[in-house]
Amino acid sequence: MLIAPSLLSADFGHLADDIAMLNDSQADWLHLDVMDGVFVPNISFGFPVMEAMARAARKPLDVHLMTERPEKFTARVAALGARVMNVHQEACPHLHRVVGAIREAGMLAGVTLNPATSVGTLEEIVCDVDVVMLMSVNPGFGGQAFIEGTVEKVARLKDLLLRRGSRALIEVDGGVNRETGARLARAGADVLVAGSSVFRAEDPRAEIAALKALSPNNQDV
Ligand code: DX5
Ligand code: ZN
Repeated sequence: MLIAPSLLSADFGHLADDIAMLNDSQADWLHLDVMDGVFVPNISFGFPVMEAMARAARKPLDVHLMTERPEKFTARVAALGARVMNVHQEACPHLHRVVGAIREAGMLAGVTLNPATSVGTLEEIVCDVDVVMLMSVNPGFGGQAFIEGTVEKVARLKDLLLRRGSRALIEVDGGVNRETGARLARAGADVLVAGSSVFRAEDPRAEIAALKALSPNNQDV
């Protein structure tokens, strides 16, 4: 299981401290949530802040673009040194082209689905993507309640990937904690994003370690 803590829930007045904590934890990727106030009803942070984060980070970056026309930013996300660039299926009418451009820029191509978007919409593209991310909340805010149907959706996505011979990782974002994470792991999730459950924990590093220990064979952790 890969764990990607979301910096959206970090203390923006002390980002360097929070990133140092993550560098020293079992986190696998740092998840950066970019919001444009159009695709989602909120604005988070942009490139100047992410450049500072990238300088402090000793872990790969997973950039989640909740923006219209995310392909405009491909070169700048690559320049951050990001490992993964996640774009929303709903924001990309020419998704195949966008995914190709992300890979061409040297990053893993991630495609994200909102809660109401069916996994079937990815039928034609799953073999061309590296990551499929399912939103388990409506994107725009941290700290929201987990949408239960996501567990079954992960299982349906897993079936689709197996049927099409895709090796894409299954990532889940929103409302992930030890309890929802255990069920997602059992359903086939490979990467868990966690914002508030990590940063509101008394011991964020221990919380990351607990999520990291979740695996289909280790369900009670
Ligand atoms: C939501 C963001 C998430 C968010 C998750 O729009 O994409 O990455 O930070 O936060 P929690 O884990 O608090 O739901
Ligand atoms: Zn996110």
